Amino acid sequence: MKTKLIAGNWKMNGSLAANQALVRGVMDGLSGLQVRAAVCPPAVYLSQLQSLLQGQTALAWGAQDVSMHEQGAYTGEMSASMLREFGVRYVIVGHSERRQYHAEQDAQVAMKAQRALQAGITPIVCVGETLAERAAGRTEEVVKRQLAAVIQANGHCISEIVVAYEPVWAIGTGQTATPEQAQEVHAVLRKQLQAATTQADRVSIVYGGSMNAANAAALLQQPDIDGGLIGGAALKGSDFLAIMAAASQCAQAS
Ligand code: PGA
Repeated sequence: MKTKLIAGNWKMNGSLAANQALVRGVMDGLSGLQVRAAVCPPAVYLSQLQSLLQGQTALAWGAQDVSMHEQGAYTGEMSASMLREFGVRYVIVGHSERRQYHAEQDAQVAMKAQRALQAGITPIVCVGETLAERAAGRTEEVVKRQLAAVIQANGHCISEIVVAYEPVWAIGTGQTATPEQAQEVHAVLRKQLQAATTQADRVSIVYGGSMNAANAAALLQQPDIDGGLIGGAALKGSDFLAIMAAASQCAQAS
């Protein structure tokens, strides 16, 4: 089993003081854990994280969004090369909150992933169905459509992405997909990647949606769940560390 990736998505939370305390706590608890760890703060705090974390490799940092454009008259946007200057290793693209509140479409998400890859940043591409789509039996169709756009735009580089399966109905709701429900969708995504690249097994497919210290181990033990994208539980150091400890145990057991 490959080393799991556990990434915290802080969303629009944090402050200079709170970030420093959280990052220090996480760094203290990380030693000895076999896990790929990352935190994604609001972009204004990337330079703070760069100064707090540079020179070490245990905890990477990432952004929550990136522009699909390279530069120019796009007020409020940030390019992948700008993020790169702040040491960013990952960028979340196509999060359901961006799709929902900012009307991001599959094609834009695919472009964003491409910009990230061109700048040497790993895009964490989010896909996931709404409750209504699941109820209508459309889960597979929706996630495949979302991933297909990214595969089409990125060709042979597709093995460099991370995919996050985040059922919209599980995000921030406390309602987690069962390990079996999540595994079923992850297997569909893996198959789709296999059809696009011989390197599909290298791609980390992580789960997101109310993952926490109590349910992480069961999810992470599934064969196609390669890690987690953690919202609420990433804001508390002890919870985030407990998830990483569960991920580390999976890696050691294999
Ligand atoms: P949650 O968020 O863990 O709070 O459900 C996950 C996400 O939106 O990435």
